[in-house]
Amino acid sequence: MKRRATAQAHPNIAVVKYWGKRDAALNLPAVPSLSVALERFCTRTTVEWGIDAAADSVEINGKAGSPKAAARVSALLDLIDPQRPRCRVQTANNFPTAAGLASSASAFAALALAADGAAGTQFNRNQLSAIARQGSGSACRSLWGGWVEWRMGEADDGHDSHGLQVAPADHWDIAVVVAMVNEGEKPVDSRGGMLATARSCPFYPAWVETAPADLAEARRAVIARDLERLGRVMEWSTLKMHATMLTTEPSIRYWQPATLSTVQVVEELRRQGIGAWYTMDAGPNVKVFCERADAPAVARAMAGAVNRVEVLGVGGDAVLLPEDPEHPSP
Ligand code: PMV
Repeated sequence: MKRRATAQAHPNIAVVKYWGKRDAALNLPAVPSLSVALERFCTRTTVEWGIDAAADSVEINGKAGSPKAAARVSALLDLIDPQRPRCRVQTANNFPTAAGLASSASAFAALALAADGAAGTQFNRNQLSAIARQGSGSACRSLWGGWVEWRMGEADDGHDSHGLQVAPADHWDIAVVVAMVNEGEKPVDSRGGMLATARSCPFYPAWVETAPADLAEARRAVIARDLERLGRVMEWSTLKMHATMLTTEPSIRYWQPATLSTVQVVEELRRQGIGAWYTMDAGPNVKVFCERADAPAVARAMAGAVNRVEVLGVGGDAVLLPEDPEHPSP
């Protein structure tokens, strides 16, 4: 019998960044991190558990997944059940894939949840988060909405290295203004980039050492709904992470000229008294955190520097979607 489930998850943006692994195979982090879920942007994934085929079938954004992507999907399904049958996975994002917008986070969170629903394995959220983590580290933070911390954990098998919700989506209604500098694929993937940084960056030990204090500061700022305090530590964590990337051998530079122009726009907004703080991930796009009321002014100011600007709020939990009998998911 075919069993099928569809799940939806939001990408997340780290305010205190994850860059570096203490265990590469299990995706165990060298630093703790904290992120916020983005509303409106999402990945929707349908898993059909048990198909009559010689191999899994993986479709991403309407096309057959590359062998590399398909292998990552199959590996995650094996974590749900190593004795599993062949499966069909269809997944689509409503936002650019692999452009530093954490598409792998929402993808593996939605995949873990849909696969659990289709297989009937009934893992709890923490277990699904630890499974999603093995697909992509940041995915362990996308099982929940709102503000989510990823504790490093201590166990060798990684079962205690999963997300933990610090505050739900309705705790704090801020805006995240996304400035799309370039929607193409990034030149260096985060997995390879992190390993290269740990291997060759002379500042990597300082990055690892200072991360727990940044995490504690960001957590306090989120709980107190103090945007300036959060913004300061977010920019610091961002710049420290990019500094280690830049000083990796060979150098990893995700920024493009418009990335820096956007940062200058944000600094100018602050000089004008508008509270806005920036962050960038493994890509050139800039995400700016501000009060909801300031979002139109922030978006207008950034529009001149970049191709496209999106104003987003704080997203909710990853969820299983009900099957529509009239329009079954493909
Ligand atoms: O887990 P990955 O491979 O998606 O790595 C995410 C790394 C950053 O986006 C740069 C930082 C973060 O914490 O999301």
